[in-house]
Amino acid sequence: MNPFTYGGIVEGKDFCNRLREFEDISRSMKNAERLFVYAERRMGKTSLVLRAAKSLSPAFYLPIYIDLWATSDERTFAEAFARAVTMASETRVSKILDAAKTFFGRFSPALTVDSSGKPVLKFEAGNIPISERDLVEILSIPERLAKKKRRNVVIIFDEFQRIADYGDDTLERQLRSIIQHHKHVSYIFLGSRRHVIHKLFLNSRSPLYRSAGHYPLEMISLADWKPFIVEKFRRTGKKIGSGVIASLVTLTEGHPFYTQHLAHTLWDSTPIGKEATEKNLSAALETVLSREHYGYSSAWELLTPTQRRLLLALSDAAYPAIPLFSTEFARTFNFRSVSTVQRAIASLMEKDFIDQSGDRFIILDRFFKRWLQRVAGSQ
Ligand SMILES: Nc1ncnc2c1ncn2[C@@H]1O[C@H](COP(=O)(O)OP(=O)(O)OP(=O)(O)O)[C@@H](O)[C@H]1O
Ligand SMILES: [Mg+2]
Repeated sequence: MNPFTYGGIVEGKDFCNRLREFEDISRSMKNAERLFVYAERRMGKTSLVLRAAKSLSPAFYLPIYIDLWATSDERTFAEAFARAVTMASETRVSKILDAAKTFFGRFSPALTVDSSGKPVLKFEAGNIPISERDLVEILSIPERLAKKKRRNVVIIFDEFQRIADYGDDTLERQLRSIIQHHKHVSYIFLGSRRHVIHKLFLNSRSPLYRSAGHYPLEMISLADWKPFIVEKFRRTGKKIGSGVIASLVTLTEGHPFYTQHLAHTLWDSTPIGKEATEKNLSAALETVLSREHYGYSSAWELLTPTQRRLLLALSDAAYPAIPLFSTEFARTFNFRSVSTVQRAIASLMEKDFIDQSGDRFIILDRFFKRWLQRVAGSQ
């Protein structure tokens, strides 16, 4: 069996390092702090925070994980929140409805079972627009719950950037004013679209400005990948040397998802009992890029010529040394003006092709970046 997994949450032996981050986040959870953990997509935010939450002693802590991915407004937020709080606070099926009634009675909870027999909590009042008062009441529950259960509650909001699309800032305002009074609740916010998150937490006009500590999640280093990858090859009867691992991690920039993905494909292209070579690695990259080719070229077709040229420029090894919004950049990569570059950046960011990292712009999909370098090479 291939020992490398990508996509989805990783735990146990599939989880590489992040010891310091694990300690930092666990400590915030235990100290009832508010922390905002952010990184690019698929950097391992969810895996890391769930790992920290699982390590907490259930006798003292009650972690509640709320995925906001599918929410689109205050009402869907309230429903996701109420459901997660109820299901986490009561594990016995017979008690779920009682728990929901205790805290969310106003929203007419009802319990049904799905086709697999799993309990599903619904709120009959779900179609009624939610008032600001309702929101205040709901957001006050974690502290009440902590007192009732005599355990510290840890609220994890995953995909928190969603709330930037809710239409107005009611929720942000209420969150800020309510959670600052909570003494027995830790709030961990996870977010991925860096520029949206900056708007939410770093913009001085935003209600959540400075309401939580900041914790950017970085790449996993080569030194940490090495033992992880070596061990997985060894355990499955194959070998890999430091040199090939270094080449692999250079290709993926140490990004967890792309590193696992490429390692997975490299493992496949290495014969049983043999050591992975640079040639196997090239073959693995080839396999990945050819699998993705259709998707990448379809995306490419939909871009304007300026956007395409900008992507090629950002994938160019010369880019990081030249400031993006400078006449030198425009001149080097043949753009009419700095404002042309600015417009193209804004649209590529909106389409999630790129994001800002410090003062640099990065192509999010590390394989797409390699694909672009090939396009550039063939022009
Ligand atoms: N600590 C880690 N060790 C090894 N692989 C990891 C680690 N963290 C993440 N990964 C890899 O990255 C993938 C994505 O992880 P995860 O879903 O936790 O990231 P995420 O940042 O929450 O992603 P998304 O932005 O899609 O929500 C995993 O399936 C795994 O392949
Ligand atoms: Mg996630």
